[in-house]
Formats: sequence, structure tokens, C-alpha cells
Amino acid sequence: MWNKVQETVSFLKEKGISIPDFGIVLGTGLGNLVDTIDVKISIPYEEIPNFPISTVKGHQGELIFGVLGGKNVLAMRGRFHYYEGYTIQQVVFPIRVMKFIGIERLILSNASGGVNSSFKVGDIMLIDDHINMIPEHPLRGFNDERFGPRFVDLHEPYDLKMISLMEKTALHLNISLQKGTYLALQGPTFETPAEYRMVRNIGADAVGMSTVPEVIVAKHMSMKCLGLSVITDLGVEGLVEEVSHEEVQQVAKIAEKTVGKLVEQFIETF
Ligand code: HPA
Repeated sequence: MWNKVQETVSFLKEKGISIPDFGIVLGTGLGNLVDTIDVKISIPYEEIPNFPISTVKGHQGELIFGVLGGKNVLAMRGRFHYYEGYTIQQVVFPIRVMKFIGIERLILSNASGGVNSSFKVGDIMLIDDHINMIPEHPLRGFNDERFGPRFVDLHEPYDLKMISLMEKTALHLNISLQKGTYLALQGPTFETPAEYRMVRNIGADAVGMSTVPEVIVAKHMSMKCLGLSVITDLGVEGLVEEVSHEEVQQVAKIAEKTVGKLVEQFIETF
């Protein structure tokens, strides 16, 4: 794994990617957030050594280096999900690459189902904690100390300073934000009414199929994380309705511009 990461990092550096200030992961329906980035270099995943290839509709696969809010960013347009059949090591591989290209701060976005009854479709939730229920843990097995320690502290999975700055940014832009706990399940099925109930009873506010493995590995490598989740549907008691991937993409697309403004302004003021 170490050698593969170094090989990929060397490749990207040769392509002209210098130390970015932020890494950004663009989730379902949020890929066009890159429209706000002044793109300098874009590389399709299939051209990057050791990168898996994205297979899901609506998940474009390219790595984008450019300027956003006056700072250098490296953005993943499309991520790898466990449900696509990748191993969890493949899912988190790009995060390891981001660390060794010099990134210390990550901004992750996703689409999720809201289980908090005060949430509405289209809300944006600042993730302040998570529950990992994806069945394969990215840190299981041999621990390479060059990445990080065997036992990883997760008392602050999402950086409190970044959360606070994002809250101020939202206030400044007059955008309202929800805040809560994101629970990751493997998918690819959306939840049954009983499963949404379980997610709520366990203590989460939203449920999705990504982000958490990436944050775990980022924390393993002492990176700081900020998570934004677009609530694309509701799994609230008595209100569980049919959900489709198209609908999830559609709602995310509407929220995309707002998320873009938030991220740009956040990076600018950071
Ligand atoms: N459940 C799981 N993942 C999701 C959902 C959901 O309701 N909406 C968007 N991603």
C-alpha cells in the first residue's frame, strides 16, 4: 500500500500538482461543484496509476487540481463506494494519496437520507459526528506506522474549528445549515422503514453510504475533516416514501450551487 501511494503521488506531482491547501471529495450529484473551481489540471481516474475506476451513473471520475477561493485545491469528482464492489482499501486509497501529496485538510460532501424529523428535503447538514456501520473497517489488519498509529483517537472526527468557520460562513451568506450525526451503511439498497427507525434510534440524523471510511483513514493520518451532507430524502417515522437514485441526484443538484458557495467562501476566509 505504501509503495502504491508513493507511486501515485509521484505521478500526480509529475503532472504538475503541487501542494494543495485543501482536498475536496464531491459526492453524488455534487460533481459540478467543480464549476466554481478555476481548473488547472484534470486527470480521469483511469489514467491515474493504482486508482480504481468509478462505475456508478452520476459519479464522474476525475481528479481536479485548481484554484478555489484563492487557494489551491485538489478535488475528487466522484468517489469510490464500498457497494460498487471495491475493497474498503480501494475506497480510501485516494485519501491516502491526498495526504502524501501534502494535504492536511479535507472537505467531504455527500447525499443522505434525513431521519431527524426537523429536517427537510434539500437541507444541508454539517456533519459533526458519525457512526460507522460499513462492515469492513479500513484500518483492520496490519498497521503501517508510516500512515499512522494502530489505535486511532476519534474524539473529534470532524474538526471543530472548521465546523465553527463553516457555521460563520453560512451565517454570513444567509444560508441555513443543519448539524448532526451521519451514519454510514453499506447500501446499495435504501433503507426499509424499520431500518430508518433503527438509524434514528441509534442516534443519527442522516444515513448514507460513504464518507465515514474516508474520514477514518484521514484521521489515521492526522488530517482535519469537514463534512457536508445534502438531505435528499427523508426516512422519518410515518413519512418514509419511495426513493430513487435519480431523485437523490436531482435534489443534490439543486443544493449543489449553495454547497459550492459555502465551500468557496469557507476556503477564501480560512
Ligand atoms: N439512504 C442511504 N443513502 C442515501 C439516502 C438514503 O435515504 N439518500 C441518499 N443517500
